[in-house]
Amino acid sequence: MSVIHVSVLLLLLQLSCCFRTGSCGKVLVWPVEYSHWMNLNVILDELVRRGHEVIVLRNSASIFIDPSKQANIKFETFPIAATKDDLEDFFVHFVSTWTNARQNSQWKYFSLLQKLFSEYSDSCENFCKEVVFNKTLMTKLQESRFDILLSDAVGPCGELLAELLKIPFVYSLRFTPGYTMEKYSGGLSVPPSYVPIILSDLSGKMTFMERVNNMLCMLYFDFWFQMITKKRWDFYSEVLGRPVTFSELVGKADMWLIRSYWDLEFPRPTLPNIQFVGGLHCKPAKPLPKEMEEFVQSSGEEGVVVFSLGSMVSNMTEERANLIASAFAQLPQK
Ligand SMILES: *[C@@H]1O[C@H](CO)[C@@H](O)[C@H](O)[C@H]1NC(C)=O
Ligand SMILES: *[C@@H]1O[C@H](CO)[C@@H](O)[C@H](O)[C@H]1NC(C)=O
Repeated sequence: MSVIHVSVLLLLLQLSCCFRTGSCGKVLVWPVEYSHWMNLNVILDELVRRGHEVIVLRNSASIFIDPSKQANIKFETFPIAATKDDLEDFFVHFVSTWTNARQNSQWKYFSLLQKLFSEYSDSCENFCKEVVFNKTLMTKLQESRFDILLSDAVGPCGELLAELLKIPFVYSLRFTPGYTMEKYSGGLSVPPSYVPIILSDLSGKMTFMERVNNMLCMLYFDFWFQMITKKRWDFYSEVLGRPVTFSELVGKADMWLIRSYWDLEFPRPTLPNIQFVGGLHCKPAKPLPKEMEEFVQSSGEEGVVVFSLGSMVSNMTEERANLIASAFAQLPQK
């Protein structure tokens, strides 16, 4: 794992506990399922390796977040009415609807996404309520005296828990639709004249009309964000007993670890508490195996590596092997 990226997170922990007491920190985690969990898990493993105690709050229907598969971290399971099958059905529906929605025109696509995210937010809201309105659980968490909370920002609630437990918190995030949460709460600047809004499919080089479209996309996502946050997360005020807005609590994040990098997205202004940690979950590349190296005959001037397909095609159909061979034949020769 990249030392630079993780050290940012660890610094917070070290400052707040290791130096002070000579012992290590206690980390509470508010995760999200599937790939989100896999990404967070890499950080958790590293925290455990460095002697910190990690406790993950998971719901009873969690699919990927499986205590039996992870001996190094502790889990606190809270009961929910839904079953694992319900959750799995929902995520299959989520992914397939999103995939199919892309075939539509931009505005139809966005409106389908908005509906989908609204359904997703319903379940996030329910999970959150199951925790914060459960007095027994909240007392237990208070008494556990956590030092820091780590949360995936696309599954809201982490910010509320951190506020209730009076502890600092760190987000892990890929993106929110239209970069709205990063923009409104994280202070990340996204000037629409040159930063293509995420999900707009625009590039870093936009014509005038594309810039106009980018602006319209931004307005659409802004409007969507205002609608979601105004109504849905009103209960944060109820829980805290004072008027707060969702954006205000999210804005208290001490650090944002963005799971992306400039080879995936376009450069944009950033802030010191926002770190781009794309690829944390990638294993460092291993050198090519011996036999593979022998296949590498030459490297063209254009940087294309030409392989000898000899024994590699042994298990390919002849048709497929010919296809590949003819593709290579069309490459510019030295
Ligand atoms: C509250 O949380 C505890 C511990 O997670 C759990 O055992 C209990 O069933 C929960 N209570 C309710 C009403 O959900
Ligand atoms: C060839 O491919 C088939 C199906 O893809 C696979 O079952 C088989 O194990 C492969 N054989 C070798 C020698 O790799």
